[in-house]
Amino acid sequence: MSQAIAKKRLDYQAPNYLINEVDLVIELDPTDTIITSTLKCETSPHAISSNAGVASEQDLILDGEDLKLISVFLNGSAFTNYRIEEGKLVIPQAELAQLTDFTLQIKNSVDPINNGSLEGLYLSNEAYCTQCEAEGFRKITYFLDRPDVLSVYTVTIIAEKAAFPHVLSNGNLVEERDLADGKKLVKWHDPFKKPCYLFALVAGNFDKLSDSFTTMSGRQIQLELFVDKGKASQGHHALASLKKAMKWDEDVFGLEYDLDIYMVVAVDFFNMGAMENKGLNVFNSKFVLADSNTATDDDFFNIESIIGHEYFHNWTGNRVTCRDWFQLSLKEGLTVFRDQQFSADMFSYLATRISQVKVMREHQFAEDAGPMSHPIRPDEVIEMNNFYTVTVYDKGAEVIRMLHTLLTADGFRRGMDLYFERHDGQAVTCDDFVNAMQDANEVNLDHFKLWYSQSGTPRVKVESGLESGSKELNFTQRTNPTADQADKRALYLPIKVECLERSGRKIDLNLNNDTFVLDKANASVTVPSEDFVPVLLSDFSAPVILDYPYSLEDYLLIMTFSSSDYSKWDASQALYSSLISELYHNESVELSTSVWGKLEAALRQACNNYELLNEMLTIPSVESLTQGFEFSEPLKLSAARSAFLVQMQENLQDFLLEIMANTAQKSYEYTKVQVNERRVLSAVLQLLSYSKTPEMAAQLEKRFNSADNMTDKLTMLKASQICSVELFEKLMLSFESEYLENAVVMDKWFALHATTKSNDILSKLTLLASHRQFNLRNPNKVRSLVGSFAFYNTDGFHAIDGSGYQFLTDYLLELDPINPQIAARLVTPLIQYKKFAKSHQEMMVMQLKRLLNRANLSKDLYEKVSKSLT
Ligand code: PHE
Ligand code: ZN
Repeated sequence: MSQAIAKKRLDYQAPNYLINEVDLVIELDPTDTIITSTLKCETSPHAISSNAGVASEQDLILDGEDLKLISVFLNGSAFTNYRIEEGKLVIPQAELAQLTDFTLQIKNSVDPINNGSLEGLYLSNEAYCTQCEAEGFRKITYFLDRPDVLSVYTVTIIAEKAAFPHVLSNGNLVEERDLADGKKLVKWHDPFKKPCYLFALVAGNFDKLSDSFTTMSGRQIQLELFVDKGKASQGHHALASLKKAMKWDEDVFGLEYDLDIYMVVAVDFFNMGAMENKGLNVFNSKFVLADSNTATDDDFFNIESIIGHEYFHNWTGNRVTCRDWFQLSLKEGLTVFRDQQFSADMFSYLATRISQVKVMREHQFAEDAGPMSHPIRPDEVIEMNNFYTVTVYDKGAEVIRMLHTLLTADGFRRGMDLYFERHDGQAVTCDDFVNAMQDANEVNLDHFKLWYSQSGTPRVKVESGLESGSKELNFTQRTNPTADQADKRALYLPIKVECLERSGRKIDLNLNNDTFVLDKANASVTVPSEDFVPVLLSDFSAPVILDYPYSLEDYLLIMTFSSSDYSKWDASQALYSSLISELYHNESVELSTSVWGKLEAALRQACNNYELLNEMLTIPSVESLTQGFEFSEPLKLSAARSAFLVQMQENLQDFLLEIMANTAQKSYEYTKVQVNERRVLSAVLQLLSYSKTPEMAAQLEKRFNSADNMTDKLTMLKASQICSVELFEKLMLSFESEYLENAVVMDKWFALHATTKSNDILSKLTLLASHRQFNLRNPNKVRSLVGSFAFYNTDGFHAIDGSGYQFLTDYLLELDPINPQIAARLVTPLIQYKKFAKSHQEMMVMQLKRLLNRANLSKDLYEKVSKSLT
């Protein structure tokens, strides 16, 4: 792997040259698109040595990848003294020595139709589109492809007039005219300086939805949403969400949109969720298209959240951007936190917070315990695309949330205001952000900053001890060594605490905001009571693992009496986990009936709050249970979880049937009340399906056939997957014939098949991969089929003979040369082998070695696989 060289955060150097203006002329063609790039360059002040006036002592090295160079002009004259080194275009320093300003014109071509990486310029169905973050601009033209080089862009696009009614780029449209040969020219200008990763171009034939938004200062912004022909009616929710996001950012942060137009385009071929290109967001179509027939409640929720996320980037990411890619969490952690607050305000705090905590516990904790562990601000990177992680995004957001908790909403706002006052128009670091928070609030955040540089999940052990007559809660924190860092220090941890007497009465602890700050290895809190149950880490006030010797009675007490719904849910999950763990260690155990009676009583208390009831009726996933074991036997764990569900169903049947009877089908609306009702019903039907009775199957079939919306249909499919194989197959066939033409809906169908428990799952998967809606080059399809299998089909993926591991590996070998970014995402369940029992580890390692031995393995896979094997 000659190119697999790690870059280090501490090696950062400011650029030697600046590019102030970029003028691009792009003549679109499927195999031979010609790009003429005119760059107004300047020797950077950083590069001027003490020997005043002497220009950069270094060559100008322009990044490039998979480009064909046609010509170079320097200040208007043909220039040939360049070199091409490892794809990069090098202009020797000697040629630039006398110049402080110069114009470089570069002409090159690219091949969009054969670009399967979906980075740079590529074709999605018939439309051209671009993806430049993180380092994709270098696949379009030679450039200083780094986020601290900021330029004003003018972009001229030449395309066939008939085939491409919509030709878009960033900023404002300044010219559109016909050319000879059925072509047209379209010109865009973006007045805001931006890094090249925010450049975008789209050309296609779309349906367009238009709307407008009046900002707080009274400016009218034109909003345009572009979707595939015939899908306009599925774009209204996204557009409405955009207007809500624009209003919310004004109300909460005083942030107003800056350009006169905001465009969003939905494409079917996209590596991620969406991209915040200035004034021209490109979205994965699954996060735009929605109506009640094709999208679930969760889809509606996710669309609003991702539309918000990309919109919020306009300030946190675009107006103030990252100095270098190690600072990615500067924009992502902060923007995820902002979208989380937005979702909580638009929908509801509890369900939103719980889903975030599940992501942390199921995925981020696993990442931190595995070979790819890194701080939210990484120190070393081989392939940047590998660092768009749950750590940088979600743990990054948790760190911002702790700041918000510590400084309060007002203090946080003061910090944000100062951040923009200081850094608007700049490319900055995570330290700059924390310094703004610190200075605006006159606090010292030096210790807090450790969250940016230390990886790993802190474990907080809490014990209650009797100390000279009064009771104490003793806290100890410890972070185990991670793959990337051996030594750990004590972090600054805000821990929400509540103490309950056995009667359920709350004990006053005299803590500010109910929060105890643990800022050293050990500390304690005095509790004025002899016998109490502590409720710890409410709202997941810090991203840590909490360890307290709770009894089942304690959990039930918290589920009944905590003042926090979040903690009631958390206790329910811990209770289920401990019962499942009992079954894991002793398969034939029949859980004591007294537990069920008490559980039912606790659940009944939540019957007036369906949002909470649904969460408490949801049993932890195998993935989250896995985190609780040292070397888990995945098959045994999955069996224990199923056994638990069977017993729960048997013991709570009357209660569950009662809820089922109390929820009537209504005609679909996406409202909070209806969503919570549908969720409770879904949880109840899935639980009842463990009875596997013909009556239950008949019930599901009836409900499937009368469902007027995608949410309920999917609920019935999931329940029938549990209840009866025959019914499941039957309903899946009917679903397929109804939605065969809808790519976004068919992803759900592929995912359901891929998570089925079945002895011949691999031949099923192979058959599905030849389905006419399947396409190896489309990341959504690959994620639905192969991703769902590897991440969520425990019994299939971890099959005792290793065939699941082999299947995934075969697939990755095929995918890697086409789309390494997606291949590297899918390898995650394999590289986290150390949390499984030895026999599984050996088979997983064998497959990882197969990958590592492949000649020409991508940097993406190489980085992850090689780290996992050391
Ligand atoms: N910056 C995008 C977001 O978080 C994610 C993304 C990264 C998209 C890389 C494409 C490529 O909003
Ligand atoms: Zn983002």
